[in-house]
Parts: sequence; C-alpha cells; structure tokens
Amino acid sequence: MAKIAPSILAADFARLGEDVKNICDIGVDYLHIDIMDGSFVPNISFGSAVMKSLNEYINAPYDVHLMIDNPDNLLEDFVTENTEFITVHQEACRHLNRTVQHIHSLGVKAGVSINPATPVSALENILEYVDLVLVMSVNPGFGGQKFIPSALEKIAQLKEIREKKGYNYLIEVDGGAGVGNAEAIREAGCDIIVSGTAVFKAEDRVEAIAKIKG
Ligand code: DX5
Ligand code: ZN
Repeated sequence: MAKIAPSILAADFARLGEDVKNICDIGVDYLHIDIMDGSFVPNISFGSAVMKSLNEYINAPYDVHLMIDNPDNLLEDFVTENTEFITVHQEACRHLNRTVQHIHSLGVKAGVSINPATPVSALENILEYVDLVLVMSVNPGFGGQKFIPSALEKIAQLKEIREKKGYNYLIEVDGGAGVGNAEAIREAGCDIIVSGTAVFKAEDRVEAIAKIKG
C-alpha cells in the first residue's frame, strides 16, 4: 500500500476550501501543494497565502512542492502548522545542501525533486540529508500530463540506494499518476503517490483514492 498526496492544483479554485475539505474527509495522507513561479516552470499557480487560508479546512499535512528558482528567500513563507515537507528542485538550487539545511532549521522535513531529464546520480551527495525524494514523472508546470515511464526505473534505483546505504528518505512520484498505473508505481517501490487530475476529476473520488493507494 502506498500513501496518497492529492495535488490541489486540480481542485476547483472557485470553491477551493470546500473541494479540498471533501478530499480530506475521504481520508488522504498528505495534501500536495504545487507552487509555480513562471520562471523555473512556464506557469504560475498560487502562493503561500492560498495555502495558509486552507489550514482551517484541512486535517492532512502539507507536502509543499516548490517549482521556483532560488527558493531560499521564500522558504519561511511555506511553514505553517500543517507543513510536513518542503521540497525543492535540484535544478533550481545553486547551493542545494545549504537549502536543505535551511529547510531543516525551520523545523520541517526537507525534500528534493528531479525533473524527468535529471538522473538519480545528480542526487548522490544529498540523499543522506533528505527526508523525501520526489521523482517527477512529467515535466513540471502543468497538471493532466502523461506519465513518463522512466520514472519507474528511478524509483527502483532510489529504493536500492536507500537499502544499500541505510538512508531514510521516502520516495514520491508526481505527474500523470492514477488508477491505471498505480500498481506499477507501487511495485517499483514508491512510498507516496501524488495525484491531481485522477483524484479531483474522478467520478468516484473514494474509489480512485482507494485504488491508487492499493
Ligand atoms: C506538475 C505538478 C504536479 C501536478 C500533478 O508540475 O507538480 O503535482 O499537479 O497533476 P496530475 O496528477 O494531474 O498529473
Ligand atoms: Zn507537484
């Protein structure tokens, strides 16, 4: 069984609190919060104010995914009573080790993410320090894209490295994940599955969440 982190990017923004509460009432492990800056990725989503205003509607911890260049000066903005993980991109941080230390100094867990074209080997020197590795299975910037299968191989590699070295990070996948490919994702060794469209746009959300978790 995997954990599920529905991405609120696919929620109804006109009635966001209500829609996200509906998902939380079904029972989810995390809420995935996609922050996009229009620079690191070619889209702008929403900022920390939106996330903070959701605090009163939710009962699940936040899994914050920062798709922003040089996130260091903004990290503190995303720390709330519900924030469990703050994840930054390997490709967006000039001093990744410092950024990971900074996240930890704020009292939250630190994640690092890699784009589809970035190999797991680029994380070799940071894996021992992180609590989460987020494998992108689409090019970040938009919901509703098609899953890129090479992510499965990366998940398996990360699992092997974790076992061999005795590291503790969780492995998460993000992009194009849903009922149709959740089993393959779980079998590769994924701990947390992010799912936007496949959960929020499902005809039966309860069933979709149950099937993705396995
Ligand atoms: C993509 C985001 C994803 C996205 C997932 O840039 O990081 O979290 O919202 O959405 P789906 O599940 O629709 O691919
Ligand atoms: Zn995401």
